[in-house]
Amino acid sequence: MTSPLQDLLDGNRRWSAARHAEDPHFFEYLAKQQSPKYLWIGCSDSRVPATQIVDLPPGEIFVQRNVANVVAHSDLNCLSTIQFAVDILKVEHIIIVGHYGCGGIQAVLDERRLGLVDNWLRHVGDVAEKHSSMLATLDVMALRNARLCELNAIEQVTNTCRTTMVMDAWERGQKLSVHAWCYSLDNGHMNDLNMHVDSRAALQPAYENALQRLMRLPAAQQR
Ligand code: CO
Repeated sequence: MTSPLQDLLDGNRRWSAARHAEDPHFFEYLAKQQSPKYLWIGCSDSRVPATQIVDLPPGEIFVQRNVANVVAHSDLNCLSTIQFAVDILKVEHIIIVGHYGCGGIQAVLDERRLGLVDNWLRHVGDVAEKHSSMLATLDVMALRNARLCELNAIEQVTNTCRTTMVMDAWERGQKLSVHAWCYSLDNGHMNDLNMHVDSRAALQPAYENALQRLMRLPAAQQR
């Protein structure tokens, strides 16, 4: 009896054969170790796969994804991923990757009831409330979505920097930077939100600079 997922299993064999044809040592090398330099914290959205959209092969990025790329202070899943990435893998960069047109962000803006996930999205609701005056200046919904996607990525960088793992890494002199990006589904371009934090002291100025930059630029111009 064939599996109901036979298409995927066939695809897997084709993919494996193609990688092996390109480089006969590909799997042998990968199986021995992973030493990614990057931790990607992104949205679960199927259109934003980590390695593919920055044109890297398997083995290069450690990945955490959840609805609306949230770093919640009590989420053991995300915190454990950060701890493993920072303490064991010693990644040098943590990248928070939001994306324009995010359904989770839109649900917050529409105040739509989706179910259990509404509780998770309260974290994004808090971001929207914190920046309600900036969001109120945008009268077009698509622009408000874009702006909240950007603000959320910036706020999640702050949350990441405030975790004990990141603070401790900086305390012991480990090289580690945290960044905010926002990806456009429309053209496949990544927008660097210019928030790069590489020390505890750098967090507040980087946060303020990133916010001021957003206030100067209409959301549409950044896409
Ligand atoms: Co999303």
